[in-house]
Amino acid sequence: MKLAVLVLAAGKGTRMKSRIPKILHPILGIPMIKYVLNSVNELKPDKVILVVGKDDDKVKSELENYRVEYTYQSEQLGTGHAAKCAESALKRFNGNILIVNGDFPLITSKTLKNFLKHHINNRSGLSLMIAELENPTGYGRIIRDNLGNIADVIEEKDCTTTQKKIKEINAGSYLVESKILWQCLDKISDNNAQNEYYLPDMVRISLIRGIKISAYESNNSEEMIGINDRYQLYMVESIMKMRINKGLMQAGVHIIDPASTYISPLSSINQDTTIYPNSFVIGESVIGENTVIGASTWIEDSKIGKNVHIKMNCWIEKSKISDNVQIGPFAHIRPDTVIASNSKIGNFVELKNSKIGNSSKVPHLSYIGDATLGNNVNIGAGTITCNYDGFKKHKTIIEDDVFIGSDTMLVAPLKIGKNSTTGAGSTITKDVDENSLAISRAKQTMISNWIRKPKL
Ligand code: UD1
Ligand code: CA
Repeated sequence: MKLAVLVLAAGKGTRMKSRIPKILHPILGIPMIKYVLNSVNELKPDKVILVVGKDDDKVKSELENYRVEYTYQSEQLGTGHAAKCAESALKRFNGNILIVNGDFPLITSKTLKNFLKHHINNRSGLSLMIAELENPTGYGRIIRDNLGNIADVIEEKDCTTTQKKIKEINAGSYLVESKILWQCLDKISDNNAQNEYYLPDMVRISLIRGIKISAYESNNSEEMIGINDRYQLYMVESIMKMRINKGLMQAGVHIIDPASTYISPLSSINQDTTIYPNSFVIGESVIGENTVIGASTWIEDSKIGKNVHIKMNCWIEKSKISDNVQIGPFAHIRPDTVIASNSKIGNFVELKNSKIGNSSKVPHLSYIGDATLGNNVNIGAGTITCNYDGFKKHKTIIEDDVFIGSDTMLVAPLKIGKNSTTGAGSTITKDVDENSLAISRAKQTMISNWIRKPKL
């Protein structure tokens, strides 16, 4: 039987108190909706329809690489109404429809697959996913009859005090045959505490019509947590973070404090690498074997080799670092930097859009921007590539085996030839030949027998 997926994501997200649409709020740097779409896509559905509030360019550009069709719900009249908005897009579709809320990113494809199997094996007309939660506040409660069969779903705001005590909840995920869905939606009314068309009312309506209903209870109730406010966003991110960290630890990564380590699901880390607390590995980053990531370090969309030692408090963004490199503490590696193996980048060094050759060193307090350094280059403390003249950025080329004296100002565009040296404190404005010493500073004068006046 064919399968279509309907993702409900048009809600205003009022409880988030944000100008950003709820589904774009990030979890480990990735919008929550992507987690939901990734999980549903594993079911290989014939169609995925996203119900959104308005034609939002931000949503569309975020989901550029996803095969989704959009349906718009211009007025947020409830989840039942949101599902109804997709009716015309699915008019010719005949089969099962999986409806999920767009705000429960912990859902796994494994649970969704089991849910689908359950629905098909039971030959149900309507199946709903349920869970038992220690704190059911905010969720629709499952009402059972004397025989223990599901009789209804009552929203928190419509619950009596006794019903509020029920811990069995509706996860907001349904499998329903297309014909049954459209028939039920026609019968849903907004006669309730919120004056909204509630999708879970399908349960009551289906029962009246004699349709077979079944409930699927996942043994992993945390997957069902929906995000309505920022505290729930934090809870979901904590769980997601632990899920990823646990997987990495089981694969041989040494994460010292998984509670304070944030790793994107799109990043990969190899075995025997150690990650110190308060670190972030965000975006599509790759970290090789036996590398050390010091405390409070941020790594974003970067590739880091093996046996690399990053000491604490570094920021590394969109860069590539080869094997056996040492970095930090307190280094700022800005986008488009490539560091070849065995190099050393020390403390308080900023690199930007630069290539650092093999076994080169920038050990202390330097700014290297728009530069290409060869192999075995040594940059003295306090060196600056003066790459910006107020209008344009210019390049600096430093060839192999160059020794740049401390506190050299390299005024770009500039080329320092192979094996040359600059004197400490020089401002170099002209190209330097190979095997030369370039020095530009005032000659030292000495006034003999000059004694400071004593303080009065
Ligand atoms: C919903 C269920 C509740 C369930 C819970 C699980 C209803 C009435 N209640 O409650 O039984 O326990 O999910 O998390 O369905 N949306 C629209 N258009 C609307 C309203 C909502 O597209 O007019 C979307 C939202 O963007 C969201 C989803 O539907 O992704 C659920 O809406 P939300 O307001 O979060 O419902 P809950 O109160 O969480
Ligand atoms: Ca919700």
